[in-house]
Amino acid sequence: MAGERYYKQVAEDVVTRLKAGKILDLGTGPGHLPIEIARSSTAIVVVGIDLSAKLIEAAKRNALRAGLEKRIHFQTGNASSLEFPDGSFDMVISTGMLHMLRNPVKVIEEIYRVLKPGGEAWIYDPARISSQISPREWRASLSLRERLTFKLFQLFARINRPREYHREQVTELVSQTPFRTSEIAEQGGEIRLTLLK
Ligand SMILES: C[S@@+](CC[C@H](N)C(=O)[O-])C[C@H]1O[C@@H](n2cnc3c(N)ncnc32)[C@H](O)[C@@H]1O
Repeated sequence: MAGERYYKQVAEDVVTRLKAGKILDLGTGPGHLPIEIARSSTAIVVVGIDLSAKLIEAAKRNALRAGLEKRIHFQTGNASSLEFPDGSFDMVISTGMLHMLRNPVKVIEEIYRVLKPGGEAWIYDPARISSQISPREWRASLSLRERLTFKLFQLFARINRPREYHREQVTELVSQTPFRTSEIAEQGGEIRLTLLK
């Protein structure tokens, strides 16, 4: 998780990859990523879900403030038992949620189920290894509001026994799911897992 520039960059990568269609953002928090995606493309509809009703309310307010509420749908939900039918999405994305999950394999199986054949999932998560950003540099990239939000997330994460995954552990998780094609990249202190259905 990081500042506004980070979400803009991820959104740009997403809209470069997917010209039109439907995207699901898992663990959307206050909705920064769906908002940036909707800003970058009018041909994409984004659905953002999160366990926290409070964060979903905040995400809805943020979308309204940005004037993008018609193209983004925020709802509470659990990534390990999604309410969507099989093959509903062209793409599934997630930033900073993987390490919080009690049952990541179940979540990756659910991602597989809701993706259309040929669909793609991008899962970004903090990496314990090869962090390239100093904590000071990272903090400087955040607005005051984002810093406060992050403090809240830290508190939440501590309660939920967070983990950070090594590359090998992520490979092992994916091997227990139906995904046969995956790629793991490390950049800017994060792991980016790409899964192809
Ligand atoms: C570190 S925050 C990242 C939020 C957002 N993606 C961002 O980058 O700003 C992780 C989020 O995942 C959510 N979360 C954790 N477990 C979840 C689950 N099983 N289903 C849905 N959301 C979950 C938390 O409520 C939290 O909002």
